[in-house]
Amino acid sequence: MHLLTPLFSLLTLPSLLHAFPNVPFKTSTRWIHDSTGANFTYVGVNWPGAGEVMIPEGLQYASIESIVSKIKSLKMNVVRLTFAIEMVDDIKDNGGDVTVQRAFVKALGSANGEKVWQSVVKNNPQFNASTTRLQVFDAVAAELSKQGIYVHLDNHMSKGKWCCSTNDGNAWFGDTDFNTEKWLRGLQFMADHVMTLLQTRKWTSMVSIGLRNEFRKPDKAGKSLAYNWSVWYDQNVAAANLVNAANPDILIFFSGLDFDTKLNPIPGAEDLGSGKRFQKSNFKYSDKLVLELHNYQNSATDCNSMKSGLWNNGFKALDPSARNQMPVVLTEFGFSQTDDSYNKVYATCLRRIIPEWDAGWTVWVLAGSYYIRSGTQDYEEAWGLLNHNWSDWRRSQAIAGLRQMVDASLR
Ligand SMILES: *[C@@H]1O[C@H](CO)[C@@H](O)[C@H](O)[C@H]1NC(C)=O
Ligand SMILES: *[C@@H]1O[C@H](CO)[C@@H](O)[C@H](O)[C@H]1NC(C)=O
Ligand SMILES: *[C@@H]1O[C@H](CO)[C@@H](O)[C@H](O)[C@H]1NC(C)=O
Ligand SMILES: *[C@@H]1O[C@H](CO)[C@@H](O)[C@H](O)[C@H]1NC(C)=O
Repeated sequence: MHLLTPLFSLLTLPSLLHAFPNVPFKTSTRWIHDSTGANFTYVGVNWPGAGEVMIPEGLQYASIESIVSKIKSLKMNVVRLTFAIEMVDDIKDNGGDVTVQRAFVKALGSANGEKVWQSVVKNNPQFNASTTRLQVFDAVAAELSKQGIYVHLDNHMSKGKWCCSTNDGNAWFGDTDFNTEKWLRGLQFMADHVMTLLQTRKWTSMVSIGLRNEFRKPDKAGKSLAYNWSVWYDQNVAAANLVNAANPDILIFFSGLDFDTKLNPIPGAEDLGSGKRFQKSNFKYSDKLVLELHNYQNSATDCNSMKSGLWNNGFKALDPSARNQMPVVLTEFGFSQTDDSYNKVYATCLRRIIPEWDAGWTVWVLAGSYYIRSGTQDYEEAWGLLNHNWSDWRRSQAIAGLRQMVDASLR
């Protein structure tokens, strides 16, 4: 025993410290591996934090801890946490990170802003008048890490507001509110921030970042760069290089054109214009690259045609024959939680085919309501898994369907 005890602690102590949550992740062919080399499938939910207030939603109704516990109860393993570049612009250009209290007043007006802020503090008494927006992200990430849920950060918008349309000023590089330089700076800042805070164990379960949500062709051509794959390539590779330099540990997700429904030329390394090709092997960090797609074919009537569409639009990167064989994650799909959508072709089809492909997914959306969306305060989200006051699931049948998808993906 005397001989074994020191040996035992030598072997187990470091592995206990590093064993969970088995980061960093990397990719191998079409698989995502945790640091032990085991396959990891993303199974989770979107938690929006890119609205006008620019903090994760729901905190006026519930504590971060209770919200995370609900996610955990579905056996989900990841949250796609969205943020707006404007939060970083304020930090860099406008005198530092804005307090949450001020952010509420700015977004909701002084009377409502103050009232909602008071509710946030009531539910989350660790916050105070000097707590900033970024500190709320830190607190959410810390609680997710504590409860063993991975964090995927997603740059959803430049300006903090509801996404996405072709005339919202955030569609494409150079669009009214889509300043490319500030976008790059914002990504770099966040990648660096989570790295810095690793020591304080706030972002220990941060595993990946999405460079930009849903590129789309802006109505207003204006000063925008041409909407084509060649521009997509230059901008995204520049961003990926910056992110990887700031934080070499995290996986980098590339999102496609047309609201992230199309990644067609990527799996086959096809010509993107002027002989430019996306080639995994050209990246020094080729084991950090992941593709993401979205699907909202909610009125679909034929699962087979959905399946072949998804495959041809990007999931074929999973296939061994793909020149760029890579993991593909369905980071958005979703449907009304107030009717029987969960039982219609769209939902049942994705519930079957995504786990069949061993592909990861994050459903849209956790939020039962938003602080403000498109000008309406306390906006009711009929697609929210949670009810308006974030106290319970909105519809148990829909949640039962989702649980089947979780189980099928984790089997
Ligand atoms: C990942 O899963 C696939 C399919 O089940 C399997 O063939 C492969 O061996 C797994 N990889 C590891 C490292 O377990
Ligand atoms: C206020 O909250 C922040 C983070 O939420 C914390 O770092 C700080 O210590 C708190 N200040 C006081 C006085 O409690
Ligand atoms: C894409 O747009 C850029 C910038 O305007 C232009 O230089 C390039 O020729 C375009 N490529 C294709 C294939 O249209
Ligand atoms: C939250 O909403 C549910 C469902 O609408 C309702 O039953 C419950 O009373 C509400 N809880 C609070 C604290 O308002």
